Amino acid sequence: MELKDKVIIITGGCQGLGRAMGEYLAAKGARLALVDLNQEKLDQAVAACKALGTEARAYLCNVANEEQVVDTVARIAEDFGAINGLVNNAGILRDGLTVKVKDGEMTKLSLAQWQAVIDVNLTGVFLCTREVAAKMIELKNQGAIVNISSISRAGNMGQANYSAAKAGVAADTVVWAKELARYGIRVAGVAPGFIETEMTASMKPEALEKMTSGIPLRRMGKPTEIAHSVAYIFENDYYTGRILELDGGLRL
Ligand SMILES: NC(=O)c1ccc[n+]([C@@H]2O[C@H](COP(=O)([O-])OP(=O)(O)OC[C@H]3O[C@@H](n4cnc5c(N)ncnc54)[C@H](O)[C@@H]3O)[C@@H](O)[C@H]2O)c1
Repeated sequence: MELKDKVIIITGGCQGLGRAMGEYLAAKGARLALVDLNQEKLDQAVAACKALGTEARAYLCNVANEEQVVDTVARIAEDFGAINGLVNNAGILRDGLTVKVKDGEMTKLSLAQWQAVIDVNLTGVFLCTREVAAKMIELKNQGAIVNISSISRAGNMGQANYSAAKAGVAADTVVWAKELARYGIRVAGVAPGFIETEMTASMKPEALEKMTSGIPLRRMGKPTEIAHSVAYIFENDYYTGRILELDGGLRL
């Protein structure tokens, strides 16, 4: 699919990887609907996309809230007159060991920590995919849905909630690719390794060194490298039902 003039929704589009994806796709002429929780940051991200010469709009919406997702997708379709793609990028972390004993004290991962991550990172992806696919079918629009999974889908210590959600997203990418192919909708994913974001920028040099020393390419990935993979999936019409691993050769 040629990205020029196509309408692409990016969840979690106001910072980090989502913002980099917006600017990358804007430079290719895509029309963007950025979905997130913070109006001020959304406005900044929209301005950055517009500065690259394309149309962009901001939508405040919690991807884990069914009513808000239904309403937002309907508004995007009305505002742009079409939907050709979605990046399910919004995500959160609530890390912790499931059971931990330190100095004789036992702590447990709370149900709230578990549920918050499942709600946003798995249920949110389901809700956005369902609503966008339904609208694309209704409008007879073809295109692609890209899900952001993670290297942690293989199982990462301290991330029982996050690993489960990201593995679920990877499995459902295959399910939805099979279910939606008949409507001309491809569904694929990207599983990033460790990527340079605001979060990693504030880490101590020793901690960063320890993290990167295990990566065969000896460095973290850049947000634009993830955005490049997302664009590749949109542009390559034979890519569906697969997860593109982008982790510098690291495998958990
Ligand atoms: N940064 C990495 O190294 C890395 C590695 C693997 C996977 N990922 C995945 O990439 C995606 C983006 O990560 P990031 O590093 O840019 O994170 P980030 O925290 O910088 O950005 C995530 C964005 O999602 C938004 N968001 C969170 N909950 C939301 C909700 N309920 N509704 C709408 N928006 C919501 C946040 O407001 C934020 O703008 C996530 O799915 C993350 O799991 C990141």
